[in-house]
Amino acid sequence: MKILVTGGAGFIGSHLVDHLLREGHEVKVYDNLSGGNRDFLKHHEKNKRFAFVKADLADRKTLRKESKKIEMVFHLAANSDISKGISDPSLDFEQTTHHTFNLLQAMKENGVKKIFFTSGSGIYGDVGSTYTKENFGPLIPVSMYGATKLSAEAMIFAFSNFFDIQVWVLRPANIIGPRLTHGVVFDFVKRLKKDSKKLQILGDGRQSKSYLYVLDVIRAIDLVTKKAKQKINIFNIASNSFITVNSIADVITKEMNINPKRSWTGGKIGWKGDVAKVRINNSKITKLGWKPKYNSRQAVQKTVRVVLGKDAKF
Ligand SMILES: NC(=O)c1ccc[n+]([C@@H]2O[C@H](COP(=O)([O-])OP(=O)(O)OC[C@H]3O[C@@H](n4cnc5c(N)ncnc54)[C@H](O)[C@@H]3O)[C@@H](O)[C@H]2O)c1
Repeated sequence: MKILVTGGAGFIGSHLVDHLLREGHEVKVYDNLSGGNRDFLKHHEKNKRFAFVKADLADRKTLRKESKKIEMVFHLAANSDISKGISDPSLDFEQTTHHTFNLLQAMKENGVKKIFFTSGSGIYGDVGSTYTKENFGPLIPVSMYGATKLSAEAMIFAFSNFFDIQVWVLRPANIIGPRLTHGVVFDFVKRLKKDSKKLQILGDGRQSKSYLYVLDVIRAIDLVTKKAKQKINIFNIASNSFITVNSIADVITKEMNINPKRSWTGGKIGWKGDVAKVRINNSKITKLGWKPKYNSRQAVQKTVRVVLGKDAKF
């Protein structure tokens, strides 16, 4: 297939591109490199089935041109810094709501009939210990990130109805692994490499969530896009294991063989828009045949080892 991957130079996008090229597809990456890194794709530069377009999703003319003859879009481009959406709420609106609309228009104009979209568990809001299923409601996001993912999903469904587009939506928990560019694991390792004597933790450190290793997510994307055959296919993805921020710090400091003095900013959440406890029901994707290779703790450990160069194999 001829495939367009928005955000293909990012953390998850670049692993997805590796996978799609391995599968024999023609892959065009559309990325403005605001958060991604061209180096993540440098091993594909000589591949004739690979193309890279450095462009912004705000640029509708280029988007329309580059979507010509495309058979399927994998839409991953987004602002991945949730906390930034507090100081500037327009950021997620532009990067997710507006740009998803631009993409859908370009797909409509070029007759592209398939889209895969990375939504997020942020659409469920703060519902404590409830294990949210895909049909959970009412949906009350607590961040612009969650709100705009929800709006993007809604527009994708409407376009699906109007223009006969088949849709796969994945709502993942936290994803970590090599080429990570943001998030708590990335942040801790980066800060501890700079100063191994102290570590400040946002909130009380007891925030508890599920973490997935990126290659487990790529296997899920492969599975749902091949096996789920409805016109609209929505899947949660998370493991049934959870780890607190304090325990993440334990794993990282143990792997780095350091013992920094810890301090906490206090409160149940790290920033406004953060959720202290995230529980996602994964029974739908499990029934389809997906099972993560790594639990949350193992995913953190594997990520740190690869990032520190202790483990060469992804
Ligand atoms: N990482 C996670 O834990 C996680 C969890 C749930 C959902 N997601 C979603 O998965 C997707 C990928 O996340 P990631 O962690 O790889 O983030 P990332 O920041 O590494 O990748 C996003 C990519 O999009 C590109 N991009 C951003 N704005 C763009 C624009 N206007 N035009 C063109 N390109 C643009 C960036 O340069 C970057 O390469 C995002 O939609 C994210 O919301 C991520």
